[in-house]
Amino acid sequence: MQQSELDFINNLRQSSPYIAAHRGKTLVIYLPGEMLQHPGTLLQFAKDIVLLNNLGIKVVLTLGASVQINDALIEQKFSWETSQHCRITLPEHIVTIQKTIGWVRSQLEAAFSQACAEQHSPLSLVSGNWVIAKPKGVINGVDFQHTGSLRKINSEAIHASLQSNQVCLLTPLAYSLTGEVFNLNTLDQAFAVSQAIHADKLIIYSDIDSFKALPKAMSLLDAQHHLDLIQKDDNQQELHTLLKLSLDAASSVKRIHIISQQEPSAMLFELFSRDGMGTLIYADRYHQLRPATVDDVAGILKLIEPMEEEGILVKRSREVLELEIDNFIIAEVDQQIIGCAALYPMENHQGELACLAVDPSYQGDDLGQEILNHIEVMAKQQTIQQLFLLTTHTDHWFQEQGFERSSLEILPEKRQSLYNFQRQSKVLIKTL
Ligand SMILES: CC(C)(COP(=O)(O)OP(=O)(O)OC[C@H]1O[C@@H](n2cnc3c(N)ncnc32)[C@H](O)[C@@H]1OP(=O)(O)O)[C@@H](O)C(=O)NCCC(=O)NCCS
Repeated sequence: MQQSELDFINNLRQSSPYIAAHRGKTLVIYLPGEMLQHPGTLLQFAKDIVLLNNLGIKVVLTLGASVQINDALIEQKFSWETSQHCRITLPEHIVTIQKTIGWVRSQLEAAFSQACAEQHSPLSLVSGNWVIAKPKGVINGVDFQHTGSLRKINSEAIHASLQSNQVCLLTPLAYSLTGEVFNLNTLDQAFAVSQAIHADKLIIYSDIDSFKALPKAMSLLDAQHHLDLIQKDDNQQELHTLLKLSLDAASSVKRIHIISQQEPSAMLFELFSRDGMGTLIYADRYHQLRPATVDDVAGILKLIEPMEEEGILVKRSREVLELEIDNFIIAEVDQQIIGCAALYPMENHQGELACLAVDPSYQGDDLGQEILNHIEVMAKQQTIQQLFLLTTHTDHWFQEQGFERSSLEILPEKRQSLYNFQRQSKVLIKTL
């Protein structure tokens, strides 16, 4: 087999846990108008949506059309004003906006039809009057006229369409109960819809350059911290809005992914690889710590084998791991093991900490410390008063965590007899 074929098979295997995890989940995608300007990009995006549907993922698209609306208004020689980064829509703009959105939508539908035909998938893209709008109103003396905001969403109708295996499409047009037409901000709408239908994920395609400097994963605390940092920076207004919307939505939408609109395929990488390509803002615990089971043996081996080869950890065979698995805890992300440690209770209220390891791509984010804390809590529950460990490479790190250098004699006799003099490990101890 050629390398490219092997790579394909490996990638497919690696994406398997994500395929299983996302099946049946609901995804809202914010698609800015710019992404419809390049037919090739649009077709590829449509194919990716068909792929997601084939994998059992329910998709709601919120379509933006700001660039197209701006162009159409200019062509009609209309001018407009903005306030608070939002266009003021005049009554005479509405027909042009309706025509433009109809045209943009038809481009999307055409790309979908082609994508479905090419992938032999009879998928329908549907939309409806699911969103009830209200006027944005008069704010600080500025009347936004036909610029609307969201009043109500018929989430049952959206769920019913998703249940019938249809992709739902929301456009920036919505209607009031009195039948007036309003132009809505699609980004706001994407967040509001995600909250209303309790989407599992919201994917935001963005052209904000500064988001690329954000970490790959941010807790709500991290997001709030970053928001505070850029609070007064006028150049970061868009990122500020995005983070603020994300924080406000976090109680209903647990995972918000921001990806670059210059990389439309980033969505698949974000969904089906461990670390993705964008920034994830998570409201649930991104990783969890739990006791290991025999099913985790393969994942633990994968994590520790490179460290064993470097001589950092003592070699453990699969059989030993299986026998001692009850002593282990693991940290996992999306069913992948990214950290582990073991606790061995001994006589005289002593216990040994062993095999503490964190996947290199997750090191430096306090995970090692978190696992150690967890082991210490477990040790106390088991009335262990002194926790010791043997290490060749990591004594400084453990000293920073409150361990002290000690000598072989402090270890239980049974453990002393097993000491490997060739490794010359240092003994460290902590009183709990
Ligand atoms: C030791 C280990 C578990 C720490 O995990 P982690 O999640 O990176 O830990 P934290 O984020 O809490 O700490 C990171 C800090 O420890 C430092 N550090 C990591 N390894 C170190 C070592 N061997 N010696 C001294 N400091 C070390 C990092 O430089 C970082 O310092 P900084 O915050 O000043 O940048 C991880 O580096 C690892 O898996 N190492 C290989 C296995 C190992 O040595 N296990 C111990 C066997 S007994």
